Amino acid sequence: MDTLAKDVNESLPSYKHEEAKNLAEHRLQQKYAKCFNKVSIKSIHETEDHTKGLSLIGEKLVCAGWVKTGREADAGKIVFIELNDGSTPESLQVVISGAVLEDLSAVRATGTSLVVEGVITKPPESATGQVIELHATRVINIGKCDANTYPIAKKKQTLEYLREKIHMRPRTNTIQAIARVRNALAFATHEFFNQNGFCYVHTPLITKSDCEGAGEMFQVTTLLSECDGEEGKKCSPLCDENTLNEKKFEYNSIENMIGEMEKEEKPSKSGLKDQRKKLEQAKKELLELERKFRKVGGLQRKEDGTIDYSEDFFGDKTFLTVSGQLAVETYACALSNVYTFGPTFRAEDSYTTRHLAEFWMIEPELAFADLNDDMQCAEDYVRHCCAYLLKTCRKDLEFFAKMYDKTCLERVENVANNPFGRVSYTEAIEILKEAVEQKKKEFVYPVEWGIDLATEHERYLAEVVYQKPVIVYNYPKDIKAFYMRLNPDGKTVAAMDILVPKVGELVGGSQREERLDVLEKRMQDCGLELEEYSWYLDLRRFGSVVHSGFGLGFERLILFTTGMENIRDVIPFPRWPKNCLEGH
Ligand code: 4AD
Ligand code: MG
Repeated sequence: MDTLAKDVNESLPSYKHEEAKNLAEHRLQQKYAKCFNKVSIKSIHETEDHTKGLSLIGEKLVCAGWVKTGREADAGKIVFIELNDGSTPESLQVVISGAVLEDLSAVRATGTSLVVEGVITKPPESATGQVIELHATRVINIGKCDANTYPIAKKKQTLEYLREKIHMRPRTNTIQAIARVRNALAFATHEFFNQNGFCYVHTPLITKSDCEGAGEMFQVTTLLSECDGEEGKKCSPLCDENTLNEKKFEYNSIENMIGEMEKEEKPSKSGLKDQRKKLEQAKKELLELERKFRKVGGLQRKEDGTIDYSEDFFGDKTFLTVSGQLAVETYACALSNVYTFGPTFRAEDSYTTRHLAEFWMIEPELAFADLNDDMQCAEDYVRHCCAYLLKTCRKDLEFFAKMYDKTCLERVENVANNPFGRVSYTEAIEILKEAVEQKKKEFVYPVEWGIDLATEHERYLAEVVYQKPVIVYNYPKDIKAFYMRLNPDGKTVAAMDILVPKVGELVGGSQREERLDVLEKRMQDCGLELEEYSWYLDLRRFGSVVHSGFGLGFERLILFTTGMENIRDVIPFPRWPKNCLEGH
């Protein structure tokens, strides 16, 4: 490879035109892409002078990528190839003639990888659809691909099928466009919080606390691996009851004997010493047998029959986090404005198109900030993401508009340019009830004050009533988490959800309960052990502040901006019940 790359580097002439110099500079900046001295296909199509590559005509350069489609022309004397390197949805047309490559059939198959050196050329007038093409002068490297066995050889595959060929689906236009949008939204996230003075904090993935209190946590343990060993194969205790009873009998007998000896007038000192030693030994053995008697299937049990986690990796019961919030609050209560952005895990038995067992969440936390500040921050952040996408991924958004959802570009533009709606939970319930009464809408789940809004209610509010994102605030306390601040009415908490068209809930957040006594009372009512959350309560004991935060489901933001229907298609390796594939 090295010599090939060197060979190409040395063989290239210097660039002739101004725009080509830009390209060369661009290539130099992208130093990790410059092996083979190649340039990205995006940089050819999107030249800085907006000529779509016309200003590069006559330049010799190298491109590398995978064949999307290939067809023969001129009685097999040339092949036309659509080459794509993932940098842009637009492929580059490469023309290879028999004079350059003897076996043209070797490069034609979809999926073949190629490194091509060539000259940028204007296609003949008769050719449609191409502004420029690359006329190969050398085909430097070929990674063959057998069309008969290539899992995604056919042009159009269903998204369901692609989920089974998870390791191959990045080769498709759709998954590539999603990868670029995902990357852009992650960048926009860091940009927004950075520009606004937030500090990025890495919160732990392994935790002991259930932030949302919903009991949907994946347990983390190394105990189970032992259950697969020899010990674990036995479903009966490691020690049987007879052996244990025999040892108990032996222990009691020695104890009785010592009692008898002590009653004697002149007990033999050495005899007593011997028996006491024996008793000590028997006690040790008895304890060990009792432990073994409580080890069943490889799992150590406590006397009350529950699993003894002191033997586990962390010496306690631990889980994958459902949210970084509680941990990030400790940093907000010291560094003021902070955020965390990482994977979160929920063992919900949910097969919907909006739920994953492993998803990414952005969780900002603002100190000295109330619910209004929180809502404003969430709105500004979502709008920043949309504006950034329009600036950097317009071609991809156009692709989604063409292939999946006509309204997607318009939606992203609207969000970038307009403020969100705001409505209290109580008013929202009134609106929904009215819609039912006036027969404008029928819902599967009945509407009344106190219900947790279902996706159908959320989408009706966002899609029909507001026709844009809407923030619903002040929810009933009984349907929300323990940490949300109790409102003066005693019935609602200072919570807010952002509901958006196509998706429903995109953001969930709240002002946090900063009053120690109120928080303790609420935790007790929720059945939480105060002792376990003592560290969290310390934040209220020592310099408590009004603070607020929210969580935005990253994959739901991608659904919202691209118009894709299923959350399993917008994360590289989706996890849902009974599904955990890297490849298949
Ligand atoms: O509303 P949630 O449960 O809020 C929290 O976890 C808070 N601790 C956040 C905070 O205040 N720091 O989750 C936040 C968001 C939801 O609005 C939704 O977008 C997304 O996370 N979400 C999921 N996304 C995909 N799959 C799932 N199973 C999800 N559960 C929640
Ligand atoms: Mg929520």
